Amino acid sequence: MSDKKVITGFSKLSKMGKIRWVVENFFKDPELVRRELMSYWHHDEEQQKLLEGFSENTISNFPMPYCVAPNFLINGRTYVVPMVIEESSVVAAASSAAKFWLDRGGIKTEVPGTKKVGQVHFTWSGKLEKLQSVFPELEATLRKDAAPITANMEKRGGGIDHIQLVDMTAEEKGYYQLRATFETCDSMGANFINSVLEQFSKTLDQFLASHPVFDEDERDLNIIMAILSNFTPECLVRASVECKIEDLGTFPGGMDASTFANKFYKAVRIAHIDPYRATTHNKGIFNGIDAVVLATGNDFRAVEACGHTYAAKDGLYRSLSDCSLEGGVFRFWLEVPLALGTVGGLTSLHPMAKRSLELLGNPSAEELMQVVAAVGLAQNFAALRSLVTTGIQSGHMKMHLTNILIQLGASEKEADAIRKAFLDKTISFTAVREALEKLRSEVEV
Ligand code: MEV
Repeated sequence: MSDKKVITGFSKLSKMGKIRWVVENFFKDPELVRRELMSYWHHDEEQQKLLEGFSENTISNFPMPYCVAPNFLINGRTYVVPMVIEESSVVAAASSAAKFWLDRGGIKTEVPGTKKVGQVHFTWSGKLEKLQSVFPELEATLRKDAAPITANMEKRGGGIDHIQLVDMTAEEKGYYQLRATFETCDSMGANFINSVLEQFSKTLDQFLASHPVFDEDERDLNIIMAILSNFTPECLVRASVECKIEDLGTFPGGMDASTFANKFYKAVRIAHIDPYRATTHNKGIFNGIDAVVLATGNDFRAVEACGHTYAAKDGLYRSLSDCSLEGGVFRFWLEVPLALGTVGGLTSLHPMAKRSLELLGNPSAEELMQVVAAVGLAQNFAALRSLVTTGIQSGHMKMHLTNILIQLGASEKEADAIRKAFLDKTISFTAVREALEKLRSEVEV
């Protein structure tokens, strides 16, 4: 292969070897980029090794802002919530909504269930009635063979919950599932569930091969795969806020509480009937959810995938939150499945994830679910509050201006002057750069 951008054995190179190959082949100024990549290494070698151990082919770190949102009152307890997010305005919005509801009784949350799901997918051409007739025996064997894997989890109060045989042959010829539910206590449980499922596959294979009820031509099955499902509709959390409509106060531009409540209600309704709006609406919820999930070392891809499936559970992709205006009371709530852990995986390995959990008072997984849902609700409230009053751009642009000023190396004094000058002007990079240049030239004169 003559293409210099293709390489074999890359993973075997030393870290410096990997950096050298990347910078020399893909960058105009290899030396500058090499120094830049190395400048993001952790100054403590041990910490750097730890970070590198999380993944493969690591050549540097990718810093993201680590932020905190104070004043979250959840079920009568206050939290300062850690959030890792690169989008401006998100943390400011979460904090502002938290403060708004702090003054109105706070956020209430509950966890109706914490069950996770796993599946063994297989094809088989035997008689279903026979398998059904010996299913209690099969289930006992599945549980017995998995006992060495489940023993520890059982000591912690978890383990395998329910196992069922699912006939999928109407959808696909010969296709069945073993579908199991699990309690995984304070761990997210992916490793535990997948290990149990792989054992289930072996047991199922042996069971069919040896049980006398099956004929010779029924002994062969084809295990397609064994894997947890990230769709966990029974690992669910609800978060809600409510107050009298009149207690909502007044809003920018002098909007009164009743007008606000009605517009807000309609905004939520729209996100229930139009998937285009629902997607953006839910994106706003995940702005908050993902930031806390990331800060606590949890799997935000799993959480997102699950949340979006849940949003489409009745066939149309809809809002995850809902609103009612009854008896003069404004109620706003969110229901979302969240499979989270506070022990195991990155939660106990990543130094900042550990600190995040400490900041939250070392919560159980159930408590963390409630904090995360509360942030999702607050985030959604803040976004809709802006959208139905001032629009989001004024807030966004303020943060955008700060970023531009940082990029242009403005001093604090210059930044103050530019902020004042742009109070009634449209913000763009060019306009701010020109204004700063003009300011600097005036000072020089
Ligand atoms: C931006 O990241 C999120 C919002 O678009 C959410 C929404 O529209 O509800 C503001």
